[in-house]
Amino acid sequence: MAAVAAAKVQEVREITRIERIGAHSHIRGLGLDDSLEPRNVSQGMVGQLMARRAAGVVLEMIKDGKIAGRAILLAGQPGTGKTAIAMGMAQALGLDTPFTSMAGSEIYSLEMGKTEALTQAIRKSIGVRIKEETEIIEGEVVEIQVDRPATGVGAKVGKLTLKTTEMETIYDLGNKMIDSLMKEKVQAGDVITIDKATGKINRLGRSFTRARDYDATGSQTRFVQCPEGELQKRKEVVHTVTLHEVDVINSRTHGFLALFSGDTGEIKSEVRDQINAKVAEWREEGKAEIVPGVLFIDEVHMLDIECFSFLNRALENEMAPVVIMATNRGITRIRGTTYKSPHGIPIDLLDRMIIVPTSPYQEKDLKEILKIRCEEEDCEMADDALTVLTRIALETSLRYAIQLITTASLVSRKRKSTEVNIDDVKRVYSLFLDENRSSQFLKEYQDEFMFNELEEQAMEVA
Ligand SMILES: Nc1ncnc2c1ncn2[C@@H]1O[C@H](COP(=O)(O)OP(=O)(O)OP(=O)(O)O)[C@@H](O)[C@H]1O
Ligand SMILES: [Mg+2]
Repeated sequence: MAAVAAAKVQEVREITRIERIGAHSHIRGLGLDDSLEPRNVSQGMVGQLMARRAAGVVLEMIKDGKIAGRAILLAGQPGTGKTAIAMGMAQALGLDTPFTSMAGSEIYSLEMGKTEALTQAIRKSIGVRIKEETEIIEGEVVEIQVDRPATGVGAKVGKLTLKTTEMETIYDLGNKMIDSLMKEKVQAGDVITIDKATGKINRLGRSFTRARDYDATGSQTRFVQCPEGELQKRKEVVHTVTLHEVDVINSRTHGFLALFSGDTGEIKSEVRDQINAKVAEWREEGKAEIVPGVLFIDEVHMLDIECFSFLNRALENEMAPVVIMATNRGITRIRGTTYKSPHGIPIDLLDRMIIVPTSPYQEKDLKEILKIRCEEEDCEMADDALTVLTRIALETSLRYAIQLITTASLVSRKRKSTEVNIDDVKRVYSLFLDENRSSQFLKEYQDEFMFNELEEQAMEVA
């Protein structure tokens, strides 16, 4: 018996939760206080105060639904937290506001045209909040009585007694209702709702008055108050779906299953026109509301002139999301043209944007970010090792230093230590090159590589 139990425990232990650690998994929000002031270290966010404050203001306007159709550009050097800030905004917005994130290069897909890809991304970022009023019966179960026919065949009949704090009513039960009550394992003392139109039963929890009777109920049991007032209520149910989901469901060639496979292909513009018309109708009747969400386009310099001009137009549409873009480019060529412009974005589009700059980090902030990353990766690091790593971040790049955390932690584990020390950091620093040393290496050994173009370039310049 004991052995069986032990085996069971082992089984349970083996199913440990695997948490994927992504580059931005430590970011849990923007780290702002109630008056939108950024705390220096909060929710995984460190420093970059001006940009975070600006992002907070933008966020507040998005929540108020005030800035649909605006564009914000996060511009700054590589590794200054542009993508991190966008992820923080997504977290802070919550689940009810759609947030779509894409990289500029994603539009160059073989499956659909560039403008179709952008249109889909835009429509994924606009939510439709549909309100539905349903009649429900809500009460605490006093008694369920089921009469089975003596012969064992034929329909079951029964009675259900429900009460609120003010009234008690007995309902007749049909076969179907009895089955669903059994399926939901409803017992006396449960607080339930029954949808009058569909007969769907929902168990809200157990009534507080019954809390004492059931010592044996598991810790998952939720206790709720016995409902007040009438048993029959009108309840407003709100669903939020994105326009893209509505498009897919209504496009006959794909069907809703395409939502799961993600294989939606191009959607006909007639479908979209019809849906726009229908949604407009619902809005007039007060049945639906538009929730402008956020479309985040990272590495926006990868878009070309056609996309930019499309975005220009799309932003002026009545149902446009807030578009947040990020780029690390300076003055560079606009893709698809020979013109140069700041950030590789056409001036007319830039003119419609508000630009939020991000700036390189000071040593103090770098150390704090590295510390947070160590925690995120479950890596114990000695103080002096962290100081060395911070130095490395300062002299090479934050990203490179973050990469070294995982590798150093592996090296320390190999020597059966639980803490990363200076030597581990030095070891991985010599094992893995940063960009600077790699270029240096290439310059020194250029002759031994194939297709070496350094000399040709030098000649061109001369
Ligand atoms: N202020 C910050 N607080 C916490 N983590 C940060 C902060 N800034 C950057 N990071 C982390 O540092 C790494 C690099 O930052 P990020 O990817 O956001 O840079 P970026 O500005 O988007 O760079 P690029 O222009 O190269 O895309 C990420 O892992 C990110 O989560
Ligand atoms: Mg980025």
